[in-house]
Amino acid sequence: MYKIFFNLVFRRMDPEAAHHLAFRWIRLAARVPVLRTFLAAALAPRHRELRTEALGLRMHGPFGLAAGFDKNAVAIDGMAMLGFDHVEIGTVTGQPQPGNPKKRLFRLVPDRALINRMGFNNEGSLAVAARLASREAVFRTVVGVNIGKTKAVAEADAVADYVTSTERLAPHADYLVVNVSSPNTPGLRDLQATEALRPLLTAVREAADLTVTARRVPLLVKIAPDLADEDIDAVADLAVELGLDGIIATNTTIAREGLGLASEPALVQETGGLSGAPLKERSLEVLRRLYARVGDRVTLVGVGGVENAEDAWQRVLAGATLVQGYSAFVYEGPFWARSVHKGLAARLRTSPYATLADAVGADVRKAA
Ligand SMILES: Cc1cc2nc3c(=O)[nH]c(=O)nc-3n(C[C@H](O)[C@H](O)[C@H](O)COP(=O)(O)O)c2cc1C
Repeated sequence: MYKIFFNLVFRRMDPEAAHHLAFRWIRLAARVPVLRTFLAAALAPRHRELRTEALGLRMHGPFGLAAGFDKNAVAIDGMAMLGFDHVEIGTVTGQPQPGNPKKRLFRLVPDRALINRMGFNNEGSLAVAARLASREAVFRTVVGVNIGKTKAVAEADAVADYVTSTERLAPHADYLVVNVSSPNTPGLRDLQATEALRPLLTAVREAADLTVTARRVPLLVKIAPDLADEDIDAVADLAVELGLDGIIATNTTIAREGLGLASEPALVQETGGLSGAPLKERSLEVLRRLYARVGDRVTLVGVGGVENAEDAWQRVLAGATLVQGYSAFVYEGPFWARSVHKGLAARLRTSPYATLADAVGADVRKAA
């Protein structure tokens, strides 16, 4: 049904316009009490066996919405209504910014992929903090806040920019993510090098602790799939050293070669980050490597090319306590999160594991 609709309507529209249209419908539906209650009852995860404790937070299920879809925190309840059990808003930057010129989002339909060079278009930390502060939550969803560097801020001042966002947003975040892995802000990914990442994460941790004293806001870092293996290990070691709560693996890739892409060459060569199915293998590989290194000391969040319940299950077995998705939502439609949770519950039931937590990293432990 959705696929027919996608081909007839969304596919003929500019991808960013289609995003805004879908987004408007989700927000509208979430404003109608009867409709949202009905949809949430039908789509929210309700399988007891999927109840998850991660980052000190209780969740109904492990599957959530990756950053970038709801950059300004305007549709948290709408996404929760569709069955995403956590919603990561952002990336939010210290100052508001328009992002890159359009056209900046491309659909690679034969590859079930997207390329984006949005460039952190967002309303900035002040506006988003105000929105979160005045939000009257309908659904009790975990809200992650993903922060990044303002483009106009010099690289030398990056830490201060992240600290500004932290001071404004940490009070409203169930967890906070330092994004150093988007390919669309010049120099951002250089912050993944441990010499740059250590002071950045230390400063954000301090700012979060000074701003929010009643609880400890969990802090995670989101990394790129394009890091060399030794750099992944270095980030893993740093996470353990700093007592970081989690690592999100992965963001989009700048790679194109060797991914077997079938879309038109001109599209494939668009500048930006590639997401969706072609990213699956590398994201899974990065996750496995991280789990082999950190084990249960750091919570891992698996994202990148997750298209269905089987993919999500493979992420769990590879070490992910939480799993996220974005691109497949565009191709699979509004019942996607529900089908992932449902399929995960079915897999867990027929697996040798008593709980989802027992399954986390099981494949990696077996191989060791
Ligand atoms: C259009 C678009 C915008 C994105 N914006 C962000 C962002 O602002 N911050 C971020 O950390 N990740 C962003 N991402 C990356 C996703 O959160 C995710 O890590 C990546 O797309 C891989 O997951 P997927 O294959 O399920 O899409 C964006 C992805 C897409 C497709």
